[in-house]
Amino acid sequence: MKKDLLSVADLNKKEMDDLFALAIKIKKPTKAGKSPKLLADKTMAMIFEKPSLRTRVTFETGMTQLGGHGIFLEMSLGKRESTPDIARNINRWVDLIMARTFAHKSIVEIAENTDIPVINALSDLEHPCQIFADFLTILEHKKKFKGLKLVYIGDGNNVCNSLLLAAATLGVNMTVGCPQGYEPDRGIWEKAQELAAKTKTTLQIVRDPREAARQADVIYTDVWASMGQESEKDLKARVFAPYQVNKHIIAAAKKDCMVLHCLPAHREEEITSEVLDGPHSQVLDQAENRLHIQKAIMVTLVKNNARRPKAKKKK
Ligand code: CP
Ligand code: NVA
Repeated sequence: MKKDLLSVADLNKKEMDDLFALAIKIKKPTKAGKSPKLLADKTMAMIFEKPSLRTRVTFETGMTQLGGHGIFLEMSLGKRESTPDIARNINRWVDLIMARTFAHKSIVEIAENTDIPVINALSDLEHPCQIFADFLTILEHKKKFKGLKLVYIGDGNNVCNSLLLAAATLGVNMTVGCPQGYEPDRGIWEKAQELAAKTKTTLQIVRDPREAARQADVIYTDVWASMGQESEKDLKARVFAPYQVNKHIIAAAKKDCMVLHCLPAHREEEITSEVLDGPHSQVLDQAENRLHIQKAIMVTLVKNNARRPKAKKKK
């Protein structure tokens, strides 16, 4: 296991499977009010450049349940002092950092300037913690990964990028239904194709959303304009109108398909309330699983990357 979790591609299949197993193990006692105190006396700095509900509450609650403490820091990296300077200071005080940034480069810089684990809690490029919660939810409901068809309909954004990397690693066939010009990141796509070749998984991009949804086991969508893209909202609303996840999309999927959305949802834009609140939707199980998988992520990273005590100086 690497020091940090910056990208889904930082983990191999075994490491992902271990995370799912630990999350499932922790979930039961947590729900009974008896979370194991695996991070007693540990402190995590939580850097947020962007708003959050789920990520903030699940990380902070998770840390409390594990016997540790999370410090919420709302800040613009590089404004008052440089990102490396912020990272080098925090590195001296806490055991773990999670950061939600605009530029992915900022998370990389934090990781490069620390010797404690750094967790990507969403950047413009990826959202790994979300995606591990999503695949945990899929595993709980479908009892397997291999051979499933996951269909992502909408913008080829950070969530779509991370989904592709995880699907390719875990053997889930994935179809992206998106308009021309809104494909996933090219570098991520190439990396995902490499992983998919090894696991004999199919990844494809399809323009027609109903064709994409055909025989899907899982339908996934996300907002059309991500945080930081507010000025593109009106243009995107027009371009993406045919890509709404509604009853016609569900009709093309398998009868027992699951509907997932990382949330927050813009009702009647990328998804109708009928579908979001309907019988196929598992979005609240998905949101709950952020708590359990992130506890597993924090425990694993701290355990595997404990700062080594400095050797005693000879007198
Ligand atoms: N899905 C997710 O990351 O939600 P928040 O933006 O509310 O943290
Ligand atoms: N793609 C969205 C995800 C929000 C959790 C965004 O980046 O705003």
